[in-house]
Amino acid sequence: MADLDDVREGKDFGLDKPVEVKPFPLRGANALDWGMQDRMARIFQEKSGNTVMLAFDHGYFQGPATGLERLDLTIRPLVPYTDVLMCTRGGLRATMPADSRKPVVLRCSGGMSVLTELSNELVAVDIEDAVRLNASAITTNVYVGAEYEHKSLANLVKLIDTGNRYGVPTMAVTGVGKDMVRDARYFGLSTRICAELGAHIIKTYFVEEGFEKVAAGCPVPIVIAGGKKLPEMDALTMAYKAIDQGASGVDMGRNIFQSDSPVGMIKAVRAVVHDGEKPEKAIEIYKAEKAKELA
Ligand code: 5RP
Repeated sequence: MADLDDVREGKDFGLDKPVEVKPFPLRGANALDWGMQDRMARIFQEKSGNTVMLAFDHGYFQGPATGLERLDLTIRPLVPYTDVLMCTRGGLRATMPADSRKPVVLRCSGGMSVLTELSNELVAVDIEDAVRLNASAITTNVYVGAEYEHKSLANLVKLIDTGNRYGVPTMAVTGVGKDMVRDARYFGLSTRICAELGAHIIKTYFVEEGFEKVAAGCPVPIVIAGGKKLPEMDALTMAYKAIDQGASGVDMGRNIFQSDSPVGMIKAVRAVVHDGEKPEKAIEIYKAEKAKELA
């Protein structure tokens, strides 16, 4: 029962102070509802405004891909160093600790494999299960210009509409088929289409020529995929250039978990993404960690 003792009349209404209106500090997210903003704020860190997502969803179409044969052995040691877990519900439930306090960006598409046409995806998770897993965002791939472009865009629209109903943001991943050109024109087109359809975050690829325009033309935060494994210095340089040219973080997989020092690499990536360190300085973090592991 509520306590009725010592009920006082309010005195301090701060009548000389206007009510503070605080803008939400993330691109394109100012008009989102409280639950959406809360989830976006879990993904994008307060100090830098950026995020380091660790992608380990590859098994949803590749099976036990190189480096991800055992998620418990490969990914679990990296959990303390990532801002976000980006994975499937199967991988999450079976192998990730629920007390890690890391937000989850949940892969919600599937239904194809490396043996078939990649763009032929379907929505493979119901929003209720995403909410049950406390997902901070849901995600699907979009294949602009591919055989199943229309279907992949319909999947995105479905995620956005159901996510909006429950206050869960959607991240669109701009997939690329084998024969598609990876240039600024293509990524500018596909990122903008996803944002206009209502995606709250876009994951795309960095391109050497014109990435700045891709980022500028996209009204919501962009994170870049790492892509295939590069030498560590090259991957850090790519991350640095992407942030410098307007990306709000990375959603990196193979360039972290396939490194010979995954902990060293994720620490180095964090230094670039959150502290604006140059690749030349960040690589020293990776090297120091590697040397510690070998000692
Ligand atoms: C597949 C994905 C993957 O999560 C992503 O591409 C993997 O990251 P990386 O390329 O850095 O290994 O979204 O469509």
